[in-house]
Amino acid sequence: MNPHADKVANAAACAPETAVDTGNWTSKRRDFMRMLGLGAGAATLGPVLTACGSSHAQSTSEALRAQLVQDEAFWTGVQGMFVLNPAKTFMNIGTAGSMPATVLDTFETMNHAKAVDCLNGYSNLLDFRKQVAPGFGVDPDELAFSANTSSGMCHAILGLDWDPGDVVVTTNHEHGGGDTPLRIATNRYGIEVSRIAMPVGNNQTAATYVALFDERIRALKAQGKRVRAMMWSSPTYKTGTMLPIAELMGVVKAHGLISIVDGAHLPGMMAYNYAELGMDFMSGAGHKWQCGPGSTGILIVRNKMRASNPLPLPKWYPIHTSSYSPLDRTTNGTATYDIAATITSCGSVHTPMFGALVQACNMWDQIGRKKIETYDLTLSAYLKEKIVERWGVESLYSPKDDPKLCSGLTSFNPFQNKADVMVSQKSSQFVSRMSSDYPQSFQIRNSNFAVIGAPADHYGVRVSTHLWHDATDVDLLVDAMWDLSKKMA
Ligand SMILES: Cc1ncc(COP(=O)(O)O)c(C=O)c1O
Repeated sequence: MNPHADKVANAAACAPETAVDTGNWTSKRRDFMRMLGLGAGAATLGPVLTACGSSHAQSTSEALRAQLVQDEAFWTGVQGMFVLNPAKTFMNIGTAGSMPATVLDTFETMNHAKAVDCLNGYSNLLDFRKQVAPGFGVDPDELAFSANTSSGMCHAILGLDWDPGDVVVTTNHEHGGGDTPLRIATNRYGIEVSRIAMPVGNNQTAATYVALFDERIRALKAQGKRVRAMMWSSPTYKTGTMLPIAELMGVVKAHGLISIVDGAHLPGMMAYNYAELGMDFMSGAGHKWQCGPGSTGILIVRNKMRASNPLPLPKWYPIHTSSYSPLDRTTNGTATYDIAATITSCGSVHTPMFGALVQACNMWDQIGRKKIETYDLTLSAYLKEKIVERWGVESLYSPKDDPKLCSGLTSFNPFQNKADVMVSQKSSQFVSRMSSDYPQSFQIRNSNFAVIGAPADHYGVRVSTHLWHDATDVDLLVDAMWDLSKKMA
């Protein structure tokens, strides 16, 4: 996991002594670095370059590296909680996380106890939901367990009372997990889907998304269309762009819309408070960044009025349940029924599986969700800066300078001949050779997406950075990717 401890130790020893050259940073960049505990504060440390013998100011990547190694012993301890194969470097958490040992233990113990006592799973898992909900800033009636992100998106989209001609505004970078129920609703209820072409790269801010959604909705309304809902991924699985939820909720509220967030990557990566964000639905995975078992998901559903979102709760029917309440949804701050119980309970459920998810959530709460978020974002910020140093900023599909758009997913074009990124086979070869040709056996992935103005889809390479990585993993990855890009030129 950390074969270059001496290198890391050197960086740690030098880091606090060096000055950060913030002169060429944008104001957004400075805000981001301040958030990570760097930037203006670090710059005031002054150019006291003694023990390290350096005479030049610290680069952005060096400053980020210093930040990463500051708490190295702590993160090494966290890394030790996982059972990952040390012969590989797993950097595709966006597809699958890995259960820590304590989660595996809970799973096995509960499964065994269930068999010993011939237990059933007829439950809405209220006790489990009570344990997990505070970590997400909501009440237990607002947090349901689903089978995964896709299942949560089906609960949300197929349960709404659509009328023919209702328009859902979304993007052209959505995942099938959200797109499939949209397609079903199109054919079954006659809804229409309006897609915004997603920007890529660093030249974008949160305001870009507010303008894109607001302008599209206004244009549709001007055509006499009935816009009912906005659906978007935060972040998208293609470029890792974190569509800014708080800002997009401003658009939702201005136009009185239903809000559906595909948040597959949010649980376990970001420390969001969903009551404050106030969306109607956020569907996340339990098995990705949250590192719970497969077939687990977390679906947040707005179930009472809060100041964060004063819009009426949308009419909604359960589509997969053993418990149905005919009560109307509330019009005030008190729920009329436990909607999360309705969603969670469907026949006999796999209690050990959800018990293990609860254990993963407890572990995250103990470490501190904000601490994990900051570490993940610092790792990805470090990776992005190192990519920019080698390949140039134009190679990034993920934004880096507006902190509101950043996530633990980094997507870029690794090819020396830039057009090669449009060759699917070449991109897949890059991914497989990163696994086969280097001793660390890097596990990454690619994905294809439309780029505005491009003649064909780009097959960008995507890297996930999470709590079992460290700065040295990123160093080795970047060196290997650079080497491979030269060999494949
Ligand atoms: C944005 C997004 N939505 C949905 C999904 C589907 O996730 P799940 O397997 O949890 O249904 C994924 C999976 O990678 C994703 O990235």
